[in-house]
Amino acid sequence: MGNVLRIAVVDPKDASRETLKSTLLGLETVWLEAECSRYEFFADVVGQTQPDVGFIALDSNPDRALELVAELSKTAHDCNLLVTSSSSDGNLILRAMRAGAKEFLTQPLKAEEVAAALQRVARQRHGGKPGKPQGCSVIAIAGATGGVGATSIAVNLGCALAADDENQVALVDLDLALGDADVFLDTIPEYTLTDVAQNVARLDLTLLKRSLTKHDSGLYLLPRPVQLEDARLVLPDDMLRVIGLLKATFTHLIIDTSKSFDALDMFALNQADEVLLVTQLDLPCMRNVVRLLMSFKDTAALDQKVKIVVNRAGDDTGQISLKKAQETVGREIFWQIPNDYRVMVEVRNNGVPLIQQAPKAAITQSIGQLADALCGKLDHQQDASSKVLSWLSFWPARSGA
Ligand SMILES: Nc1ncnc2c1ncn2[C@@H]1O[C@H](COP(=O)(O)OP(=O)(O)OP(=O)(O)O)[C@@H](O)[C@H]1O
Ligand SMILES: [Mg+2]
Repeated sequence: MGNVLRIAVVDPKDASRETLKSTLLGLETVWLEAECSRYEFFADVVGQTQPDVGFIALDSNPDRALELVAELSKTAHDCNLLVTSSSSDGNLILRAMRAGAKEFLTQPLKAEEVAAALQRVARQRHGGKPGKPQGCSVIAIAGATGGVGATSIAVNLGCALAADDENQVALVDLDLALGDADVFLDTIPEYTLTDVAQNVARLDLTLLKRSLTKHDSGLYLLPRPVQLEDARLVLPDDMLRVIGLLKATFTHLIIDTSKSFDALDMFALNQADEVLLVTQLDLPCMRNVVRLLMSFKDTAALDQKVKIVVNRAGDDTGQISLKKAQETVGREIFWQIPNDYRVMVEVRNNGVPLIQQAPKAAITQSIGQLADALCGKLDHQQDASSKVLSWLSFWPARSGA
């Protein structure tokens, strides 16, 4: 439970305590250590259970609750104090902060706000220490042209990340018209992105998670709508909340965008922490990469997070060298994934991810290492180019195309 926050809650009001508990229980990174219905007992509860976070609801008796905050901030130094109230009165917020509260959350509580507050606490708690970064990493996968391998990478990267028990990974298929992430995973989902986006205001984290389809690799999938015409029902505003909720419960969120770079795709790219722009080493792809990068430059934050991933490296049909590609796009190639026609056809036809179908294949290893690099476990600068050379040294034996 290295990354889990242990929480103790006090709220004399049963109804709001239950709401608070269910919000917290929906978060993967939370362990509810203790709950208490009386302010006067809470200091003892904290003393005995030593939680990372004390969650104090103020509304039953704000003066008494703030005394408790002040007392705990002196006696329980390792316990981060969060308070919640239905009032957003500035004076109350100021008193809470002066008493020692780290965060003030206004009710009704929103799961994503609670999650964000807890992530801030977790960051401070782990601050400066090496280890797994806290919070959710959102990785958008975009392709420089159709059929470039974006979905193959999105699905298999998701499975590679999910193979680590510490990760909770969700994949959103944002190719609303023709997305096929469900085919890659051979799943028949019960709910789609449209169902979730339309009901997002009513969903809590538990319901959201139930709406996703869990693959036996551990990856959760939120697929594209069934009906073509339902695509227009997914709006950026709803998407913002869907992403917010997913971020609150998963450590990694992968978004497979469509090739139309429409408003929703751009929204997802802007929401992402990393954008993998998948290309192949041929002229049409390179031309599109240059065009896309030029248009991304208008948004500095987007431009900085784009990483170029060359797919099907070693397939010589494109006739553009890596060096030339790098010069053309004016930035380094972040990763190269080798060409393996035979394995990829099997993977797609069987609906089984690489990690299960061909765990030892170089392409599987490469995507696994990409996952590590994105998690900061591997120095890609050393590896991106050297790895592909070592794969290519035995490549002719595997290549089927
Ligand atoms: N590294 C690879 N080596 C060989 N074949 C690959 C590789 N990556 C993907 N493919 C094949 O390329 C084809 C297209 O892949 P995929 O559907 O992932 O691309 P895409 O960019 O998502 O396409 P679309 O534009 O339809 O969304 C598939 O048949 C897949 O098996
Ligand atoms: Mg695709």
